Amino acid sequence: MNTNIQQLHQIAFKEERLIIGLMSGTSLDGLDIALCKCKGSGTNTTVEIVQFETVAYNNDFKQEVKSVFSKRQVDLEKLCLLNEWIALQHASMINACLKQWGVKNERIDMIASHGQTIYHAPKSLHQQKKFGNATLQIGDGDHIAVNTGIITISDFRQKHIAAGGEGAPLALYGDYLLFGKQGENRVMLNIGGIANFTYLPASMDAAAMFSTDTGPGNTMMDAYMQQHFAGKYFDEDATIARQGTIHALLLTALKDNPFFKEGFPKTTGPELFNLAYLANAMERAGIGFIDHVDAMATLNRFTADTIVHALQQTMQQNRFAVYASGGGMHNPLLMQHLGQQLPNADFRNINDLNINPDAKEAVLFAVLANECVAGNGHLFAGNIAGIPNVRMGKISFPS
Ligand SMILES: Nc1ncnc2c1ncn2[C@@H]1O[C@H](COP(=O)(O)OP(=O)(O)O)[C@@H](O)[C@H]1O
Ligand SMILES: [Mg+2]
Repeated sequence: MNTNIQQLHQIAFKEERLIIGLMSGTSLDGLDIALCKCKGSGTNTTVEIVQFETVAYNNDFKQEVKSVFSKRQVDLEKLCLLNEWIALQHASMINACLKQWGVKNERIDMIASHGQTIYHAPKSLHQQKKFGNATLQIGDGDHIAVNTGIITISDFRQKHIAAGGEGAPLALYGDYLLFGKQGENRVMLNIGGIANFTYLPASMDAAAMFSTDTGPGNTMMDAYMQQHFAGKYFDEDATIARQGTIHALLLTALKDNPFFKEGFPKTTGPELFNLAYLANAMERAGIGFIDHVDAMATLNRFTADTIVHALQQTMQQNRFAVYASGGGMHNPLLMQHLGQQLPNADFRNINDLNINPDAKEAVLFAVLANECVAGNGHLFAGNIAGIPNVRMGKISFPS
């Protein structure tokens, strides 16, 4: 028998598994590395974060990824090289963290690797009849497994698409398993490059829950900062946006896109929400020039308004609790806009649920890997629209 399969079999039967969850989103800020202790599976899953770190990407890494990221035309050789190179970078970041934490690689049962999204093309974006939903994450799992010596589960999104989804948001599965609570409407809101939320109804009726993207999170604000403020990668603490005035005409034009009229669940990416999108909105609104601070104030409000719109559509007048995560939760102006426009929401901290909000997305991938190896494949009854009832991830062995 292949000893790898034997080892995997043992891991599946363990009472608790040490799993490293990895997340690197569209913001390209860094690799989130969460060392998690996962017990049980399915609705009995519990997770304890043992260690967490975001390893910031250096400029070289950012430039290399940006050379192919969300571009319709790329240097194919570069893409091919990056598939291996990103995995090697991630593997060495993991090895360095484990060393720093004083944890031997042999002690880790599995790595859950999201990879780096290069392109996300749901049908709503490409609109080509003969093609389905598609997405591409690179940083191949085999290279991570061989270079860390740890079994690696990766490329979670393809199964989701194969089974009828758009490949995103995958947060729903972990949100449902870890945070669902009978008797309370909960919204798990993640504001990364793109903003998304999972709605967990008080009834815990799986058929009523869903995860959806709402539109841009930080991506357009980040892109604008990088374009117009030399040396700045994002609007730290909204210092720039706070100096500006919201341009009402531009805001209206920004919100005028078919994506916002589509039903839930839906997904998107910087392939749509980018600086060309802003230029197009300015043109439609007949705006030739705008102060940079006013543009940032407007983009900040655009993110807030589209999140608010999606939540109001979902919750109507009902009370609900919002647990925010992702880098956008550290943007005080954005959070202020959300608070003011959602009077029926109670804003809570995921720390109260024993999860560091910055680690949350990485933890959710650890949970998906746990399900891949130890789950029974029936998270909820039946198939729910856009939420295939499947275990996801591909298994790579170190040897
Ligand atoms: N103090 C802050 N003020 C404003 N924005 C912040 C702050 N901290 C983080 N961010 C935003 O969060 C982004 C990173 O968010 P993250 O959740 O890591 O996104 P992703 O999942 O796309 O990597 C940064 O690019 C930045 O826009
Ligand atoms: Mg990030």
